Amino acid sequence: SSLLADLTPNTHTWSRLKAALSVHRKNKGNARSRWFFLGGLDYEWVVTTRWERLPRVFSPQVPCEDADLSDAEKVCAECGQPRPLPWEQCVLPQRMKQCVKIGEGTFGEVFSTTNASGDTVALKIIPVEGSEKVNGEDQKTFGEILHEIIISKELSSLKEKQRNKTPGFIGLNGLHCVQGRYPPDFLNAWDAFDQQKGSENDRPGFFKADQLFIILEFEFGGADLENSNGTLKSLMVAKSILHQVTAALAVAEQELHFEHRDLHWGNVLVKATTQKTGSFLLNGAAHSLETKGVLVRIIDYSLSRLEIDDLTVSCDISNDEELFMGRGDYQFDIYRLMRRENGNNWSSYHPHTNVLWLHYLCSKLLSMKYRGSGGRGFKAMRGELTHFHDNVLQYSSATEALRTCPMFQ
Ligand SMILES: Nc1ncnc2c1ncn2[C@@H]1O[C@H](COP(=O)(O)OP(=O)(O)OP(=O)(O)O)[C@@H](O)[C@H]1O
Ligand SMILES: [Mg+2]
Repeated sequence: SSLLADLTPNTHTWSRLKAALSVHRKNKGNARSRWFFLGGLDYEWVVTTRWERLPRVFSPQVPCEDADLSDAEKVCAECGQPRPLPWEQCVLPQRMKQCVKIGEGTFGEVFSTTNASGDTVALKIIPVEGSEKVNGEDQKTFGEILHEIIISKELSSLKEKQRNKTPGFIGLNGLHCVQGRYPPDFLNAWDAFDQQKGSENDRPGFFKADQLFIILEFEFGGADLENSNGTLKSLMVAKSILHQVTAALAVAEQELHFEHRDLHWGNVLVKATTQKTGSFLLNGAAHSLETKGVLVRIIDYSLSRLEIDDLTVSCDISNDEELFMGRGDYQFDIYRLMRRENGNNWSSYHPHTNVLWLHYLCSKLLSMKYRGSGGRGFKAMRGELTHFHDNVLQYSSATEALRTCPMFQ
């Protein structure tokens, strides 16, 4: 069902990926870059000439010394590509024409379009490796983007696991590395968004013909809570959102020792569904919850951490002073609270950070407007959510909150 179907990446087994990332094994991290375990390691090459030195047809099946691959080669291998390709080869012209800008962040522009099956998908487009600043920040390196790729793949695949299974993380359909100027159709969509909503980003028209981009094709997850205009249908919906987020986090804690670390309300997507219940598996046991007409998808793993076997993937933000200086919203307190809990060691596992974000999300949900407030049912539901808010911090993890919290029983 991928938009990028005819170039579908070879799905790598984790063991292969692990070999490819052997530099990131525990105890081998050296903090030369912001990215403790991934990237920024040791290449000083000009991207365009480097590609010419790549084997003409790089096949992931061909045995090779994985550990010697550069980050660029690892990213291309993940994309199932020998080298970066022109935009038109990765996004078909008719799909480009349909694109609508739906969101933005410091590092990425996000557009919706449809794939070959007619499903709506979200394309997150991230410039990489260039020397020009974008939105006031340095562009990500291939090493830094590997972090997002690996975590997106792992969490997306939680929807088909045998023991710990959840649909609560956004599905990743495909992945590409492209080179070239920003396509006019995307620029038109960018301008339309800017006119309607106003963009905080630089218009991506300045990129040159040698610019590299990573395109992550995700399932379309709906609207984020921040952009739901502060309005939800009912407090029942709010409770279901909290339940779905808690369940997803618990499943990922159990399977991957996962911490999201940046679960503000712009990173929680909600879409309408006719499905009455949702289900998940926690350590082999089946559970279900009421959707109340909405499905939740968690996104944006730029600060996230997880573990597979002896491999830890995390992002060292210990020296990111700006991140810890924010004021004016509880969101900014959470970064400081997380740091207090882990002593500024961002590779170690502290699932209580997930609980901090649940506390934050509950306070946001309580601050939103609801139709039909004032009735008796409304007051009881508000009482339940307030009780959750006042008690959730005592739990050590999302798993414990899910198992123990009266609201979820
Ligand atoms: N799969 C998706 N479906 C629907 N909307 C999405 C999807 N992915 C992203 N968006 C929208 O785009 C916005 C930005 O996406 P995202 O949070 O992944 O990027 P970001 O904030 O730039 O991330 P980063 O922190 O890596 O810079 C989201 O807040 C959301 O509104
Ligand atoms: Mg975001």
